[in-house]
Amino acid sequence: MERKKLLVTGGARFIGGNFVQYMVDKYPDYDIYNLDQLTYAGDLTKHKQIEDKVNYHFIKADIANREEIFNHFEKEKFNYVIHFAAESHVDRSFTDPEYSYIPMYWEHRCFLMRQKNSSQLNLFMSQ
Ligand SMILES: NC(=O)c1ccc[n+]([C@@H]2O[C@H](COP(=O)([O-])OP(=O)(O)OC[C@H]3O[C@@H](n4cnc5c(N)ncnc54)[C@H](O)[C@@H]3O)[C@@H](O)[C@H]2O)c1
Repeated sequence: MERKKLLVTGGARFIGGNFVQYMVDKYPDYDIYNLDQLTYAGDLTKHKQIEDKVNYHFIKADIANREEIFNHFEKEKFNYVIHFAAESHVDRSFTDPEYSYIPMYWEHRCFLMRQKNSSQLNLFMSQ
Protein backbone atom coordinates (compact mmCIF):
# COMPACT_ATOMS: atom_id res chain seq x y z
CA MET A 1 0.00 0.00 0.00
CA GLU A 2 1.26 3.51 -0.82
CA ARG A 3 2.51 5.46 2.17
CA LYS A 4 0.51 8.54 3.14
CA LYS A 5 2.30 11.88 3.22
CA LEU A 6 1.58 14.49 5.89
CA LEU A 7 2.94 18.04 5.54
CA VAL A 8 3.22 20.04 8.77
CA THR A 9 4.09 23.74 8.38
CA GLY A 10 5.82 25.50 11.27
CA GLY A 11 7.00 22.21 12.76
CA ALA A 12 10.24 23.58 14.19
CA ARG A 13 8.83 25.21 17.28
CA PHE A 14 6.09 24.91 19.86
CA ILE A 15 2.80 23.37 18.76
CA GLY A 16 3.94 22.20 15.31
CA GLY A 17 7.14 20.78 16.79
CA ASN A 18 5.38 18.71 19.40
CA PHE A 19 2.87 17.55 16.82
CA VAL A 20 5.64 16.46 14.42
CA GLN A 21 7.38 14.43 17.13
CA TYR A 22 4.13 12.78 18.15
CA MET A 23 3.24 11.85 14.56
CA VAL A 24 6.71 10.54 13.64
CA ASP A 25 6.74 8.21 16.66
CA LYS A 26 3.10 7.17 16.58
CA TYR A 27 2.72 6.66 12.80
CA PRO A 28 5.86 5.04 11.33
CA ASP A 29 3.87 4.11 8.20
CA TYR A 30 3.24 7.78 7.41
CA ASP A 31 5.87 10.11 5.97
CA ILE A 32 5.91 13.30 8.03
CA TYR A 33 7.27 16.44 6.31
CA ASN A 34 8.18 19.35 8.56
CA LEU A 35 8.24 22.53 6.46
CA ASP A 36 9.64 25.52 8.33
CA GLN A 37 11.49 28.70 7.42
CA LEU A 38 13.47 28.56 10.68
CA THR A 39 12.72 32.12 11.64
CA TYR A 40 13.90 33.50 15.01
CA ALA A 41 11.25 31.13 16.43
CA GLY A 42 12.35 28.00 14.57
CA ASP A 43 14.66 25.56 16.34
CA LEU A 44 15.47 22.10 14.99
CA THR A 45 17.52 20.99 18.01
CA LYS A 46 14.29 19.82 19.62
CA HIS A 47 14.04 17.16 16.90
CA LYS A 48 17.34 15.37 17.64
CA GLN A 49 15.54 12.18 18.62
CA ILE A 50 13.58 11.96 15.37
CA GLU A 51 15.89 13.52 12.77
CA ASP A 52 17.33 10.14 11.70
CA LYS A 53 14.01 8.35 11.48
CA VAL A 54 13.10 7.22 7.96
CA ASN A 55 9.61 8.69 8.11
CA TYR A 56 10.79 12.19 9.12
CA HIS A 57 11.67 14.78 6.46
CA PHE A 58 12.60 18.42 6.88
CA ILE A 59 12.01 21.10 4.23
CA LYS A 60 13.43 24.56 4.82
CA ALA A 61 11.05 26.93 3.03
CA ASP A 62 9.03 30.10 3.43
CA ILE A 63 5.29 29.45 3.14
CA ALA A 64 4.96 32.84 1.43
CA ASN A 65 7.17 31.67 -1.45
CA ARG A 66 4.39 30.54 -3.72
CA GLU A 67 6.54 28.96 -6.43
CA GLU A 68 8.71 27.01 -4.02
CA ILE A 69 5.70 25.77 -2.07
CA PHE A 70 3.90 24.84 -5.28
CA ASN A 71 6.93 22.80 -6.38
CA HIS A 72 6.94 20.87 -3.11
CA PHE A 73 3.25 20.10 -3.53
CA GLU A 74 3.80 18.98 -7.11
CA LYS A 75 6.73 16.79 -6.18
CA GLU A 76 5.43 15.15 -3.02
CA LYS A 77 1.66 15.05 -3.64
CA PHE A 78 0.86 15.39 0.05
CA ASN A 79 -2.28 13.68 1.32
CA TYR A 80 -2.68 15.91 4.37
CA VAL A 81 -1.57 19.40 5.42
CA ILE A 82 -1.54 20.68 8.99
CA HIS A 83 -0.76 24.40 8.96
CA PHE A 84 0.93 25.84 12.08
CA ALA A 85 3.51 28.23 10.58
CA ALA A 86 2.83 31.70 11.88
CA GLU A 87 4.22 34.91 13.25
CA SER A 88 2.93 34.09 16.68
CA HIS A 89 4.60 37.00 18.49
CA VAL A 90 2.00 39.41 17.12
CA ASP A 91 3.03 42.28 19.40
CA ARG A 92 6.31 42.59 17.47
CA SER A 93 4.40 43.89 14.45
CA PHE A 94 3.39 46.99 16.45
CA THR A 95 6.95 48.31 16.29
CA ASP A 96 8.53 46.45 13.38
CA PRO A 97 6.71 46.01 10.05
CA GLU A 98 8.99 43.08 9.23
CA TYR A 99 6.76 41.04 11.51
CA SER A 100 3.49 41.98 9.78
CA TYR A 101 2.91 38.60 8.23
CA ILE A 102 -0.87 38.43 8.10
CA PRO A 103 -1.27 39.11 4.34
CA MET A 104 1.25 36.46 3.35
CA TYR A 105 -0.46 33.86 5.49
CA TRP A 106 -3.78 34.77 4.03
CA GLU A 107 -2.35 34.34 0.54
CA HIS A 108 -0.88 30.98 1.46
CA ARG A 109 -4.10 29.78 2.96
CA CYS A 110 -5.97 30.70 -0.24
CA PHE A 111 -3.36 28.82 -2.21
CA LEU A 112 -3.79 25.75 -0.06
CA MET A 113 -7.55 25.94 -0.42
CA ARG A 114 -7.20 25.87 -4.18
CA GLN A 115 -5.00 22.82 -3.85
CA LYS A 116 -7.67 21.28 -1.69
CA ASN A 117 -10.35 21.91 -4.28
CA SER A 118 -8.40 20.38 -7.11
CA SER A 119 -7.28 17.23 -5.35
CA GLN A 120 -8.04 14.96 -2.41
CA LEU A 121 -5.85 17.01 -0.10
CA ASN A 122 -7.06 17.24 3.49
CA LEU A 123 -6.30 20.51 5.19
CA PHE A 124 -6.24 21.76 8.79
CA MET A 125 -5.16 25.26 9.76
CA SER A 126 -4.43 26.62 13.24
CA GLN A 127 -5.30 30.27 13.95
N1 LIG B 1 1.06 28.91 21.39
C1 LIG B 1 -0.23 28.95 21.73
O1 LIG B 1 -0.60 28.97 22.92
C2 LIG B 1 -1.30 28.96 20.65
C3 LIG B 1 -2.63 28.85 21.03
C4 LIG B 1 -3.62 28.81 20.04
C5 LIG B 1 -3.27 28.90 18.70
N2 LIG B 1 -1.96 29.03 18.36
C6 LIG B 1 -1.65 29.11 16.95
O2 LIG B 1 -0.90 27.95 16.55
C7 LIG B 1 0.02 28.33 15.53
C8 LIG B 1 1.45 27.95 15.95
O3 LIG B 1 1.74 28.61 17.19
P1 LIG B 1 3.11 28.30 17.98
O4 LIG B 1 2.94 28.83 19.35
O5 LIG B 1 3.49 26.87 17.79
O6 LIG B 1 4.13 29.25 17.17
P2 LIG B 1 5.76 29.23 17.22
O7 LIG B 1 6.22 30.64 17.08
O8 LIG B 1 6.23 28.45 18.40
O9 LIG B 1 6.12 28.43 15.90
C9 LIG B 1 5.88 28.98 14.63
C10 LIG B 1 6.78 28.28 13.63
O10 LIG B 1 6.46 28.81 12.32
C11 LIG B 1 7.69 29.02 11.62
N3 LIG B 1 7.47 30.06 10.61
C12 LIG B 1 7.21 31.37 10.81
N4 LIG B 1 7.06 32.03 9.65
C13 LIG B 1 7.24 31.08 8.67
C14 LIG B 1 7.20 31.12 7.25
N5 LIG B 1 6.96 32.29 6.60
N6 LIG B 1 7.39 29.98 6.55
C15 LIG B 1 7.63 28.80 7.19
N7 LIG B 1 7.68 28.70 8.55
C16 LIG B 1 7.49 29.83 9.28
C17 LIG B 1 8.70 29.44 12.69
O11 LIG B 1 10.05 29.23 12.25
C18 LIG B 1 8.29 28.54 13.87
O12 LIG B 1 9.01 27.32 13.83
C19 LIG B 1 -0.18 29.84 15.31
O13 LIG B 1 -1.10 30.04 14.24
C20 LIG B 1 -0.78 30.29 16.61
O14 LIG B 1 -1.55 31.49 16.44
C21 LIG B 1 -0.96 29.04 19.30
